[in-house]
Amino acid sequence: MDRILEGKTGVVFGVANKRSLAWACARSLSDAGMRLAFTYLGDRLEKTVRQLAAELPNSIVLPCDVTQPEQVTEVFEAIGKEFGHLDTVLHAIAFARKEELQGDFYHTTKEGYMLAHEVSAYSLTEITRAALPLMEGREGTIVTLSYIGADRVIPGYNVMGIAKAALEASVRYLAADLGPRGIRVNAISAGPVRTLSASGVKDFSKRLDNVADRTALRRNVTAEEVGDACLFLTGPHSRGITGSVLFVDAGFHIMG
Ligand SMILES: NC(=O)c1ccc[n+]([C@@H]2O[C@H](COP(=O)([O-])OP(=O)(O)OC[C@H]3O[C@@H](n4cnc5c(N)ncnc54)[C@H](O)[C@@H]3O)[C@@H](O)[C@H]2O)c1
Repeated sequence: MDRILEGKTGVVFGVANKRSLAWACARSLSDAGMRLAFTYLGDRLEKTVRQLAAELPNSIVLPCDVTQPEQVTEVFEAIGKEFGHLDTVLHAIAFARKEELQGDFYHTTKEGYMLAHEVSAYSLTEITRAALPLMEGREGTIVTLSYIGADRVIPGYNVMGIAKAALEASVRYLAADLGPRGIRVNAISAGPVRTLSASGVKDFSKRLDNVADRTALRRNVTAEEVGDACLFLTGPHSRGITGSVLFVDAGFHIMG
């Protein structure tokens, strides 16, 4: 792997364990030379995230629950002290209550709707705003993870599909805001991968089997493939791309 990100720094939101898409992305970025900060949600995940981060050179680990604005501020204060600047933000977090991810969408409660949007969509804007002072003048990149449930009705995805649609629209507005500063903002729409969050979606295993038969490549994607797409959107080879949603789904989205 070429060290195309040597001397660059990034922050990764969303590692829960080694199956996390955020972890696959982090590995691709680190292999290319990027120094990383990781955040974790709550004491329960701290040990796992610290153990994983220790596998990558010079990484740091910080707590962050995006529903607590002061924790978002503290993350970037700590990164400022440790790294001095920031080139990349990877936003790979989402949450909806289990009861909102089954049955009919119209049963979604206002509380459940707001929580899903706060964590899964609004947090991108909040994190971007907090990161900006450290990203000035560095032609940085921001990448988030979405799903085809933003465009199409996927049974069981429910309120998360609405939140992903808001996330993808946020990518476009943020890209337009930050383009004049040379900062690019893109999303990856990943095919289904078995992770902790995915297990919360009803009948996820069935979906994995169904999708594999219906993709152009006749298989599911791997977390590593999502990680390498993240490297592409972070690095110089994608320098002409911003405001886009890149499908990394083995071609599922083109099939009729
Ligand atoms: N796995 C898939 O099939 C798939 C497909 C397309 C998109 N995605 C997206 O990829 C992203 C990563 O999910 P994953 O599948 O790797 O699962 P994951 O469970 O490994 O990661 C989700 C992360 O969100 C974090 N999170 C939840 N609430 C948070 C909060 N309040 N503050 C901070 N962090 C919080 C969790 O701690 C966890 O690390 C999500 O945005 C998900 O929607 C996943």
